[in-house]
Amino acid sequence: MAPQLRYVLLSPSPMAQARPHLLRRAVAWPATTCTLPTPKGLHRTINPLRSVACSSDVTNPPRRKGSMADVPKDLMDCITDLEKLFTVDKQRINELCDEFVKEFEKGLTEEGSSIPQLPTWVLGFPNGEEKGTYLALDMGGTNLRVCEITLMGHGKFDILQSKYRMDPSVKTSTAEELFGYIADCLKQFVHDHHEGVVKEELHLGFTFSYPCDQHAIDHGILQRWTKGFDVKGVEGVDVVPLFEAALKEKGVPIKLTALINDTTGALIASNYAHPDTKMGVIFGTGCNAAYMEVAENIPKVAKHNLPPDTPMAINCEWGAAFSDRPDVLPRTKYDVIIDKESPRPGQQAFEKMIAGLYLGEVFRLALLDLHQQGHIFLGQSVAKLQTSYTIDTEILSLIELDPFENLRETIDVLETKLGIQCNEQEAKLVRRLAELIGTRSARLSACGVAAIAKKAGLTKCKVGADGSVFNLYPHFKARGAEALRDIFGDAGDDIDIVHAEDGSGVGAALIAALTLERVKAAGLSRECMLRKGVSHAAVS
Ligand code: GLC
Repeated sequence: MAPQLRYVLLSPSPMAQARPHLLRRAVAWPATTCTLPTPKGLHRTINPLRSVACSSDVTNPPRRKGSMADVPKDLMDCITDLEKLFTVDKQRINELCDEFVKEFEKGLTEEGSSIPQLPTWVLGFPNGEEKGTYLALDMGGTNLRVCEITLMGHGKFDILQSKYRMDPSVKTSTAEELFGYIADCLKQFVHDHHEGVVKEELHLGFTFSYPCDQHAIDHGILQRWTKGFDVKGVEGVDVVPLFEAALKEKGVPIKLTALINDTTGALIASNYAHPDTKMGVIFGTGCNAAYMEVAENIPKVAKHNLPPDTPMAINCEWGAAFSDRPDVLPRTKYDVIIDKESPRPGQQAFEKMIAGLYLGEVFRLALLDLHQQGHIFLGQSVAKLQTSYTIDTEILSLIELDPFENLRETIDVLETKLGIQCNEQEAKLVRRLAELIGTRSARLSACGVAAIAKKAGLTKCKVGADGSVFNLYPHFKARGAEALRDIFGDAGDDIDIVHAEDGSGVGAALIAALTLERVKAAGLSRECMLRKGVSHAAVS
């Protein structure tokens, strides 16, 4: 059955009506973007579309083993070995889930664990009535997005946004170059939408989705880069002064109010629209989750003397899980190579097995290995297969979506994208490998969700999920739902993983709004409240 599409169109605001070239938020499938050259050499991409697909397979993943009768024994043996390597069975997923719960608990103590469990100083859920206009800046892996968000209350909002392409070289540049580029984009946005002038009260939530130690909501010391970033001079440093110095230098009149993670944004934005959302997760280039704790369960914030029932969103940074525990999280030889060759070996073990940045690379390494052992693509040049990161996750998606029994599309994809001629029997191995890698990713991801549910005592809730893997990878949701049932039985269906609201945009705006409300309620000036590290003062 074809996916059912749910269209949600928000009415254009007066500003959009007056300036129809500013496209506003709408929902459709698939998302499309257009890139426009801008006068300053930046590329602005207007992205009016977002996807919410409710596919028919959300509860039961397809079993597509097909007939293997014609597959020769040697290839069948390879398939059996791959199945052993990549399968996370019911027993293992339950054991892993219990280990996760222990690590989550340890991460909240001074002792620490492989899962950082970072307090975010987001001190509660919105009430749905937040209003006002805010800026949000979202530094993703490939794009930079600037949004102006009008919160309209009743869980509704309106977005005006521009996207700017981040050149891959920025990922390995210097702090000055990175923040200079971000400041340029903000300047361009202010120029395009406000004729260069910003009212003083426009506050910014900056979605900076990397692990940061925060002792206040407008601070964040970068622990380490993840997702292949390697910008010099930022690790171990508070990113906010770096950002503000760049704004000052470029003369951009904007103030940062909150520094947030994309998962915290997804949690807060989804809860604003659907109050039964208790977790925010990202399954995209990277993967991670956030949920709400109470202060008395977070021994590492005891020194702040918060009232014990103070809610505090925790950015788990679960991508780092079990980096030092291969006994708990067994890795294949391909996972080990990916780790060794990454800019940060020994870190983000869990993320490197399941996130979009790495799935194609696991696939490439496994195929190359089988070729080098003389099992597949015999006598062919596999030059493309020998180059790291040449296979995008999209290729695995296309292979998994191949509707033909003779795997015609898989054969075509291998030829067009990798220059490899493959026969039908080899294609069966290739398809099975894609299924195994995609299934492992979905099951391990769901295992993290289940562990948070166990830790926080959540038996029935929504989980707001976003990211390219969640939104686009075939059967990801159904495979995750099956894993939840492997852990909780039928009750697994009560943990409902749904498409999140726009966390990095709307979530950032909401968190800025909540922060300013707290400042006002405490009768403190913004500077006194935030900068002196007393962001918790208003809760007592
Ligand atoms: C990486 C980052 C984390 C982020 C996730 C999803 O794991 O460390 O902060 O939330 O990717 O973008």
